[in-house]
Amino acid sequence: MAAPRIFVTRPIPDASLARLARALPHAQIDANPEDRNLARGELLVGARGADALLCTLADPIDADLLAALAPPLRIVSTFAVGYENVDLEAAKRLGVRVCHTPGVLTDATAEIAVALLLACARRVVEGDRILRAGGFTGWSPLAMRGRALYGKTCGIVGAGRIGLRVARTLRHGFDCEILVHSRTPRPEWGRELGASFAPLSELLERADFVSLHCPATPETHHLIDAAALSRMKPTACLVNTSRGSVIDEAALVTALEERRLAAAGLDVYEREPALAPGLARCENAVLLPHQGSATFEAREAMGRLAVDAIAAVLSGREPEHALV
Ligand code: DGY
Repeated sequence: MAAPRIFVTRPIPDASLARLARALPHAQIDANPEDRNLARGELLVGARGADALLCTLADPIDADLLAALAPPLRIVSTFAVGYENVDLEAAKRLGVRVCHTPGVLTDATAEIAVALLLACARRVVEGDRILRAGGFTGWSPLAMRGRALYGKTCGIVGAGRIGLRVARTLRHGFDCEILVHSRTPRPEWGRELGASFAPLSELLERADFVSLHCPATPETHHLIDAAALSRMKPTACLVNTSRGSVIDEAALVTALEERRLAAAGLDVYEREPALAPGLARCENAVLLPHQGSATFEAREAMGRLAVDAIAAVLSGREPEHALV
């Protein structure tokens, strides 16, 4: 039997590739050496003839691409927990397994959400900018006042692993009152955190801080639109570490410009890496380059899950974390 071929669309931690090579010593592993997204044509050429494709959330793995690659393609393993870039139905139809990397980036992403909440509340990035520009002329009772996070009402939209970790941190570390909105009621949130479930409109009206943790689906597309933003308090902060498409960014820019929302902290964008027009000019926005899972620990663990899924499928075993 011919040696299986694996195509990796972007550099991943060395330890992950080494683990893959150890698990499948006879496999041919072709990894794109350049740390940039491949154009569709490059992806097709690179992945043609591959038995396994290790991709990232930035690679659109749609029905046409899958049909062009399967067979021999047997598995798509995405180096991410979010998988909206992969057409699962087409994969299923074509007999291609799809796996992702849940669980191992929960802490890292929750940390970035809390970092953004604090950065917005306490104007951390703005203070840094002012100081470096020579604007620190000495301590003043009036300067740089922000809003306390401690003891505030925080709305969590999406009650998955990351939302729960953020809610725990806010409840136990900052004594916040937790409101939660999600498709599935989770009574354990009430028991552990005293959290109340609320319709989205009520959550937006009552919360001082709102943190988004829902996946990108047709239902969550522009969930936070102009109408939703208009329900929020003008003193409130909105943080998004989930997917950019959950927010109507044009409406957000308007709300930030008109100070109808105190601040926003964003790690994700609808058309990454592009920013919505006007967003970068909003002084009351803290903007990060999709770094929620960017700890050495999380990225190594994501790599481990991503390569283990490939090793399992190519060795005829059932992979962990299979979506189809
Ligand atoms: C994911 O895995 O979906 C994250 O967005 C990567 O940080």
